[in-house]
Amino acid sequence: MRKVRVRLGKNSYNILIGSGLLAQTGQLLKEIGFSDKLVVITDPTVNRLHGGTLKQSLTGSGFKISILEVPEGEEQKSLETAGRLYHELTAVYAERTTPILALGGGVIGDLAGFVAATYMRGVPLIQLPTTLLAQVDSSIGGKVAVDHDNLKNKIGVFYQPRLAISDTATLKTLTPREISDGLAEAIKHGVIRDREYFDYIETNLDEIRALGDRALERVVFGSARIKAAVVAEDELDFGLRNVLNFGHTIGHAVESVSEFMVDHGQAVAVGMLAAARISNKLGIFDGNELVRLKGLIERAGLPAEMPGLDIEKIMQSMEHDKKIVQGKIKFILPRSIGEVFITDDVSLSLVKQVLAE
Ligand SMILES: NC(=O)c1ccc[n+]([C@@H]2O[C@H](COP(=O)([O-])OP(=O)(O)OC[C@H]3O[C@@H](n4cnc5c(N)ncnc54)[C@H](O)[C@@H]3O)[C@@H](O)[C@H]2O)c1
Repeated sequence: MRKVRVRLGKNSYNILIGSGLLAQTGQLLKEIGFSDKLVVITDPTVNRLHGGTLKQSLTGSGFKISILEVPEGEEQKSLETAGRLYHELTAVYAERTTPILALGGGVIGDLAGFVAATYMRGVPLIQLPTTLLAQVDSSIGGKVAVDHDNLKNKIGVFYQPRLAISDTATLKTLTPREISDGLAEAIKHGVIRDREYFDYIETNLDEIRALGDRALERVVFGSARIKAAVVAEDELDFGLRNVLNFGHTIGHAVESVSEFMVDHGQAVAVGMLAAARISNKLGIFDGNELVRLKGLIERAGLPAEMPGLDIEKIMQSMEHDKKIVQGKIKFILPRSIGEVFITDDVSLSLVKQVLAE
């Protein structure tokens, strides 16, 4: 088992990473002082695949549990579903001290996290992420939210869990596409902060995609350590945490213009490469590094080319997203693999040129 400490003063907590940890959840929760009753929020697929292991561990450690299921899909990240969960929590007599365990991908983590943050002014939250994206990214850093008025994550708060347990064995039931999605964020972490981690992914990509235990554990650990370090420096997202948006400036626009036909990981991959090309054209990011990044993205099963979308619409979407100010766009650009910088001085014509190429 590997451990990452997220250092946030009184909100500090551990992320535990390893194969088979879900079966130890009961014991691990007792070790941090929980006993008696708890509530698991999950979706039907995850419950069917991994709920039994969790339930056995919790009941074996003497916990009384209630399992609340939410249908799958982004549309469940809503105030309506949160409202239904508050009602169900009341029905199972959840109290202020009753922990909520979020068992699932980023949707469950964000929704159950939001519910935990708000039910009775906040109950303890335990993140049990089961997708690669959730283990390397969304379960870390305390951003919890629901969507509203067709806007993603519009209503939310920062709410740190008491513990996160990433059982890498749960990743073995994901599709190759879902693994690629998570890899986009892992590659992003390497580019923004850690060249050695990027090297590791590059060298061991085949083992990672074959879901080897050692490689999965190393990847989740590597990303968790990087994201935890960034979050520790900027918990409430006032500055440095912005670097985590590398690849997302264009990525978000691609996602939205494609009407979500291009999924998040694919859009981030396209966005990272576009940012890298911009930096290269500005004479900053070396051409050989660009070739390496493109090669890794392709080998990870992600697109290296812009999907056939209308460039004007992408520019409009960035404008709508308040990314364009006085004719210039704010970007997180790579200086080299392992280091990025933030600039608000990229010209529209350069962005259009890169998108068109
Ligand atoms: N809070 C944050 O900082 C943050 C960061 C990035 C993304 N997000 C959010 O994460 C969400 C996307 O998360 P996601 O990509 O994990 O998608 P998801 O939560 O929708 O999960 C995708 C699908 O995988 C299934 N699934 C989950 N675990 C599985 C497993 N082990 N085996 C088989 N199937 C499994 C789920 O049932 C679901 O159908 C978005 O809502 C996004 O906004 C949040």
